[in-house]
Amino acid sequence: MNELLEKTLLDLEKTKNDFWNLDRNCANFLNLLIKLKNAKNVLEIGTSNGYSGLWILEALDSTKGTLTTIEFWEKRQRVARNNFNLCFPSAKIEPKIGSALVVLEDLAIEVANKKREKFDFVFIDASKKEYLDYFKLIDNMLEPQGFVVADNILSHKDRVQNYIDYLYNHKNYQSQILDIGQGMMFSIKKS
Ligand SMILES: C[S@@+](CC[C@H](N)C(=O)[O-])C[C@H]1O[C@@H](n2cnc3c(N)ncnc32)[C@H](O)[C@@H]1O
Repeated sequence: MNELLEKTLLDLEKTKNDFWNLDRNCANFLNLLIKLKNAKNVLEIGTSNGYSGLWILEALDSTKGTLTTIEFWEKRQRVARNNFNLCFPSAKIEPKIGSALVVLEDLAIEVANKKREKFDFVFIDASKKEYLDYFKLIDNMLEPQGFVVADNILSHKDRVQNYIDYLYNHKNYQSQILDIGQGMMFSIKKS
């Protein structure tokens, strides 16, 4: 990791509670998974100030991939863009401003019309009560063997229980919850 990125991440960690950022160990694990998967098309739902996005971009720098990231709070998306441009000026990034469900519906139409490639890695970290609705839109946009990672699975268990039940009972997905950070659920699409 270069010095500028490390310094930016450390600065952002000072305000992590204000921006609801991932814990560093979870962000590092996310980065590792993207590299292991050799993911090329990552979708993030919940950009905030770009903390997790920077970890994703560090991995995509190795895999030569693209990050599409959704946030409905313009000010946060602006801060995120500045952080992305500072640390990864030539990265392939598509920041999307808007309500996640609306943006996902638009992306799904583009994928269905072959105007956009499918995603191979999705990170869910926005409105907890909408996780299941996000997933239902993501499913058709995800490559076989694609990964879905969701945060706050244990910290907001009551609000994401429908997501947990749906994924654990889904015949085409294998899932596991890990007790790291706020609790993360990892799911892989079988075919
Ligand atoms: C937990 S924070 C994301 C943190 C970020 N992934 C990180 O670790 O740096 C969730 C973000 O999702 C945004 N958000 C919540 N509900 C949303 C929705 N329905 N559509 C778009 N963005 C949403 C919030 O404004 C917030 O910035």
